[in-house]
Amino acid sequence: WAGRLRRLDTVVSTQEEAKLLAEQGAPEGTAVMAEEQTVGRGTRGRRWHSPKGKGVWMSVVLRPDIPLQSTPQLTLLAGVAVCTAIRQLTGVEAGIKWPNDLLARGRKLCGILVEASAGPGGLQYAIAGIGIGANLSEEDYPPELRSIATSLLIEGGMPVDREELAAKVLRELQYHYKLYLAQGLEPISRLWEEMSVTLGRRIRLKTPQGWLEGTAVGLGEDGGLLLREDNGSVTSVCSGEITLI
Ligand code: BTN
Repeated sequence: WAGRLRRLDTVVSTQEEAKLLAEQGAPEGTAVMAEEQTVGRGTRGRRWHSPKGKGVWMSVVLRPDIPLQSTPQLTLLAGVAVCTAIRQLTGVEAGIKWPNDLLARGRKLCGILVEASAGPGGLQYAIAGIGIGANLSEEDYPPELRSIATSLLIEGGMPVDREELAAKVLRELQYHYKLYLAQGLEPISRLWEEMSVTLGRRIRLKTPQGWLEGTAVGLGEDGGLLLREDNGSVTSVCSGEITLI
């Protein structure tokens, strides 16, 4: 996939750019990286702060032959790939908070947004959006994010080469994606568990049925988070936002 990375200057969101390419038939591994996003997108309709020249803002086209409801598995796989890339390239001890955040010292370092497009037989394509706070300093974050966000510059004490990091992320994504296609979620889940900062922790989660509280004990077969409640029952949670308590 190394030759499939395109660089753009200012875009609204790399998700839209990658979607356009996917609609035109771009092969998987096609990736778009921008210097700046004017309306970077986060999960749950939130904005993603994407200042110019400071981060790795990239989106990658994937075309796995999986049912639409398996899309969250791509989020886990992307988390493992990006966490590996960051650890190996920078030595920063990133960990994964279920389902899609990479944290360092409890602060958010990277966010992942996987968006799927449905086709007749299931998933037509998915866009894996990756936003890594690479070279942002504290002042580059708006005041409300300063206490909850961090960057590789802040954690590692020196700037990272964003080109090198993007290339490494793409290599790790390709490797873990191939592993997933060949062997399913199992090996990805094991790697995810190793990198997780969620497992073993008490968490709280809002579901349509109300609040759930318990201990995160593992990933289920389908990639859902297994939560053991105080009464001993284990529930698999497929989506939602958790609080580590
Ligand atoms: C999150 O809310 O944690 C997910 C953030 C995802 C941000 C990335 S940056 C590249 C791509 N383009 C976007 O507009 N969003 C994703």
